[in-house]
Amino acid sequence: MAKPKVLVFLGTSRQGSAVVDALLASGKFEVFATTRSTKSAEALKARGVKCGPFTCGDAASAKAALDAAEPSLVFFTTLMGSREVEGSSGKIIVDAIKAYGGVQHVVYSSVANADVAPDAVGHFKSKLDVEDHLKASGLGYSILRPVAFFENYDDPANFNALKKGSVKGLWQADLKVKHVACRDIGKAAAVMLANPAKWRGKTLDCASDDLTGEDVAAALTEVSGVECTYGVAVPRFIMRCVMKDLNAMIEFFETTGYDSDIAAFKAVVPDALDCKAWFEARGVKSWSEEASSSWFGLF
Ligand SMILES: NC(=O)c1ccc[n+]([C@@H]2O[C@H](COP(=O)([O-])OP(=O)(O)OC[C@H]3O[C@@H](n4cnc5c(N)ncnc54)[C@H](OP(=O)(O)O)[C@@H]3O)[C@@H](O)[C@H]2O)c1
Repeated sequence: MAKPKVLVFLGTSRQGSAVVDALLASGKFEVFATTRSTKSAEALKARGVKCGPFTCGDAASAKAALDAAEPSLVFFTTLMGSREVEGSSGKIIVDAIKAYGGVQHVVYSSVANADVAPDAVGHFKSKLDVEDHLKASGLGYSILRPVAFFENYDDPANFNALKKGSVKGLWQADLKVKHVACRDIGKAAAVMLANPAKWRGKTLDCASDDLTGEDVAAALTEVSGVECTYGVAVPRFIMRCVMKDLNAMIEFFETTGYDSDIAAFKAVVPDALDCKAWFEARGVKSWSEEASSSWFGLF
């Protein structure tokens, strides 16, 4: 029997690539991923993934990706932006899927507590707008709502590559925040896409650990065997002035915070990584002995 075809928008993003990995690992799907990079497309093709380009906010490229992939299932997320820009980019994808007509089920990865976060957290409200648009579309859908990614702690693209003995985050060391690994968002998406009837209309928060920056540093210390400290990546006064959206998000974490149910997520992804397991999976076990030859040798 032919495998169902899945289109993964932003197939090289942290979430999208994890979805691709989980779909391939299941062996149940034919996977088509979007990327603008020919190098990434070659790497994906070598793994049996068909590829095509897609540009956020471009309706024609969303249509072209759907026409090329001919999917019955779709995963998408949106890139952080203003409420208007990110919201519109997500709505364009939803509208393109609807116009395409042959899609049985769509999984959208939003963000936890998008509904209760204040309007000042624009990149949460943009995702709420996309959720609402998807719900109103008449398409079969489910929504993933991830909390903070562990991947933020090793993020060269955002000038926060992990360095020996130090880990940096956006908020103060003693603030407890729920976390999840993108790998596990991917696994949850694959579970939903494998059983659309069960997941139709449902929302699942993705959270697998709840910890402070001090806890993150302690986990890294334990896994690597090297004493690590936690520091704030961007001084708060700078965030208040020029990163207002992220500053509002931290204020939300300080006052209300993610209320995601870790046990409920682990019922769907039983091997979801906690912080120590994430650092282990990232390859830091040998950091103390092999710093110069590992990805840790960036200091
Ligand atoms: N960080 C967190 O803690 C966290 C928590 C919850 C939710 N979120 C949300 O997660 C979303 C981001 O997901 P992510 O981290 O998986 O994404 P990501 O890794 O930042 O996505 C980067 C990829 O997007 C593609 N891309 C960049 N600009 C593009 C454009 N204009 N058009 C098409 N593709 C483009 C690039 O792929 P190619 O070059 O291969 O095309 C790139 O590999 C954001 O909305 C954020 O708010 C983040």
